[in-house]
Amino acid sequence: MKINKICCIGAGYVGGPTMAVIAQKCPDIKVTVVDVNATRIAAWNDTDLNKLPVFEPGLDQVVEEARGRNLFFSTDVEKAIDEADMIFISVNTPTKTYGKGKGMAADLKYIELCARQIAEVSTTNKIVVEKSTLPVRTASAIKNILDHTGNGVEFQILSNPEFLAEGTAVEDLLAPDRVLIGGDTSEKGQQAIQALVDVYANWVPEERILTTNVWSSELSKLTANAFLAQRVSSINSMSAICEKTGADVNEVAKAIGMDSRIGAKFLKSSVGFGGSCFQKDILNLVYIAKTYGLNEVADYWEQVIVMNDYQKNRFSDNIVSTLYNTVSGKKIAFLGWAFKKDTNDTRESAAIQVADNLLNEQAQIEVYDPKVTEERIYADLDYLNTRSEEENRTLLKVKSNPYDACKDAHAIAVLTEWDEFKTYDWQRIYDNMLKPAFVFDGRGILDTKALKKIGFVCYSIGKG
Ligand code: NAD
Ligand code: UGA
Repeated sequence: MKINKICCIGAGYVGGPTMAVIAQKCPDIKVTVVDVNATRIAAWNDTDLNKLPVFEPGLDQVVEEARGRNLFFSTDVEKAIDEADMIFISVNTPTKTYGKGKGMAADLKYIELCARQIAEVSTTNKIVVEKSTLPVRTASAIKNILDHTGNGVEFQILSNPEFLAEGTAVEDLLAPDRVLIGGDTSEKGQQAIQALVDVYANWVPEERILTTNVWSSELSKLTANAFLAQRVSSINSMSAICEKTGADVNEVAKAIGMDSRIGAKFLKSSVGFGGSCFQKDILNLVYIAKTYGLNEVADYWEQVIVMNDYQKNRFSDNIVSTLYNTVSGKKIAFLGWAFKKDTNDTRESAAIQVADNLLNEQAQIEVYDPKVTEERIYADLDYLNTRSEEENRTLLKVKSNPYDACKDAHAIAVLTEWDEFKTYDWQRIYDNMLKPAFVFDGRGILDTKALKKIGFVCYSIGKG
């Protein structure tokens, strides 16, 4: 079965970049990305490539090459569904904020809406691909909805979870460690799998395309994120011990990472992991375990999140205690707000929790981030509902220049590992700060030896 037209529902951080790369690599396939958010679609269509809604290194070139040729962004969801042979569902699956499973389970309302719309609109057979991260066994719910339309259309459901990381999305999509495709074991299921394998085979070596049953594929995605987050929480737990004992967490990470059974990646201690998925997906996994009565399994994974919350709070507590137990009225400069470098995404960023804690102590915060907008920063804080919107705007200011943010500050806190922070004129920053001038490096990126020589008092995560 040859795929000629693809539709992707959801033009977000996953749908946009993923489809842009498919379109770039498969010029003979028409790829239409649709979204109910008209502003987002307009931004994807903006002739100024700096205005794309997702900032990812290299994405502008991919979009420039394919857009208007075989890559289209549209709000006409029904038309795109109707004409497609293959439909990717790439909508958001946030943690439920209401009802049963509140605060843990994945909210599948957007997924169900997509399934119902596909069922309603389709007049020809379709392959429906789960690209969103979903609880294991969601495919059976989607199939149930699709199979009860009564209009004789046949649907095959595949699971094809996405493993890209933000900041390196294009790189990850062009050369993935693996592409995972789960499908039904029936003959038609296998044909559907093959159709998707053929799409990826345009640029991914076949040995990197892994096929499994649907449930293994759905569960592998949750498992991968749980293992990755667990590594960060594990090294962060060690950072606390390092600080008490004089060990250096970077040295410990290097020493254990050279063991090929452990591996060197994902052992960078930090102020805590953020991002839209780690916490959400682990909570989802914990909820699934609980629903099967696997309470020990649930408790085991929940600790990854407990440790992450501890790490974020530990960082702000340390700032307060170092600044003589009060930050009330003191200016603290934040370098970075994004949850990691090279992205404008701030979802679940550690900076948000750290800021909230410090604002509770009446600190004055000035934030500089090279890619995050002022509007986004205030929206993140307002969402917490800790204080009024007016108070947030009085206590926290957003600066477009790092030197302004640091001027007259008592302390600087590094929340994101942006490379440019390493290149600043730190002498100039020091000269314009109140003394003693403190730096709290939550990412372990600054040359603390050089900073100490200038006169800074430095704290770096995981260093005694
Ligand atoms: P996102 O919020 O950036 O994008 C989702 C988009 O779907 C939004 O623009 C929203 O308007 C749209 N949408 C929702 N319901 C719709 C509907 N019924 N019709 C049309 N459009 C609709 O989310 P994201 O970060 O792209 O994540 C999407 C999924 O991919 C999630 O399940 C997430 O867990 C998973 N995932 C994300 C990443 C990542 O790096 N962000 C990586 C791997 C997997
Ligand atoms: C993560 C996974 O890496 C992707 O494979 C997955 O597809 C994605 O989640 C998802 O499902 O959404 P992402 O969250 O974009 O990707 O970024 P990561 O590089 O994994 O970083 C997550 C957080 O962990 C960041 O806050 C980062 O700073 C932190 N981190 C990461 C550390 O603190 N230390 C590390 O060693 C690595």
